[in-house]
Amino acid sequence: MSAATARAEAALTDLQPRPDDILADAIAGLSRSPKQLPSKYFYDDRGSQLFEAITRQPEYYLTRTELALLEARMPAIARAVGSGAHVVEFGSGSGRKTELLLEGLDAPVAYTPIEISRSMLLHSVARLAPLFPAIEMLPVCADFTRPVPLPVAARSARRTLVFFPGSTLGNFAHGDAVRLLASMRRTMGADGRALVGIDLDKDPARIEAAYNDRAGVTAAFTLNLLARLNREIGSDFDLGGFHHRAVYVPARMRIETTLVSDRAQTVHVGGHAFDFAAGEAMLVEYSCKYSDAAFAALAGEAGLAVDERWNDADDLFGLRLLRPA
Ligand code: AVI
Repeated sequence: MSAATARAEAALTDLQPRPDDILADAIAGLSRSPKQLPSKYFYDDRGSQLFEAITRQPEYYLTRTELALLEARMPAIARAVGSGAHVVEFGSGSGRKTELLLEGLDAPVAYTPIEISRSMLLHSVARLAPLFPAIEMLPVCADFTRPVPLPVAARSARRTLVFFPGSTLGNFAHGDAVRLLASMRRTMGADGRALVGIDLDKDPARIEAAYNDRAGVTAAFTLNLLARLNREIGSDFDLGGFHHRAVYVPARMRIETTLVSDRAQTVHVGGHAFDFAAGEAMLVEYSCKYSDAAFAALAGEAGLAVDERWNDADDLFGLRLLRPA
């Protein structure tokens, strides 16, 4: 273990999230009609690498647009948030977005990434700590979809700012998204704020291209889910027997990604047999897109109101500053 990682570990609040029961989740999802698998299982080591590669594809506008937007609007965001914030990121925050935020805010006192993977969390804090020596690093290993008590910073913070970039909110079904936003509201407290990245509703062709890149990286990312299940729970998905399909459904403002069975086949998982018809689609991910009205309504269901909004010049992607309603 490096000295930086050891220092990060010394500051760690370890709330020991229960390990996921992948087998039970897979059996439950495959027993539904239509069949489903949870998208949270995309992110094993290979899946995380493939996601990084997706963010570099020319069709995947989300990451580069959000980064440029954050960079351009950081002075306004810093004014709206004020000085002395305790920044709480939902996720490990290893990337450039976290750096831009911590660099651009006015004298933030502490930074708390909340992340389920202990190794990703420690790695991220070990990397960020030397870049921001004046910011107290207070990592928490926990599942951010559940309420998490925040560590108290040595210097008292003027307000808590929750940071949830990337339009990751869009990967949650409606009820789960409301619960997650409500959990942010509890975390930020009465005078807190949340800065949330959202992918905006737009030309379906543009959105569909982002989830069907020509190089096939997104297809490989989706199919990797089956490889992971085969390796970790001993299922026998034929990786050559399914293909990736991502379709934008304007009425629901979301990409629905499925793995489609190329032929009639039976898959065995944990002693259960699941029959697939030729052409049967198994749902593996939602990526919700938002209009202003739809996002304000979603936030409202969680007791939050939109305080400030920033979009890029082409209205592809947005950042929203939320406060308790
Ligand atoms: C992480 N999340 C916001 C990505 C998205 O755009 O929904 C995951 C992804 N799935 C396919 N491509 C990217």
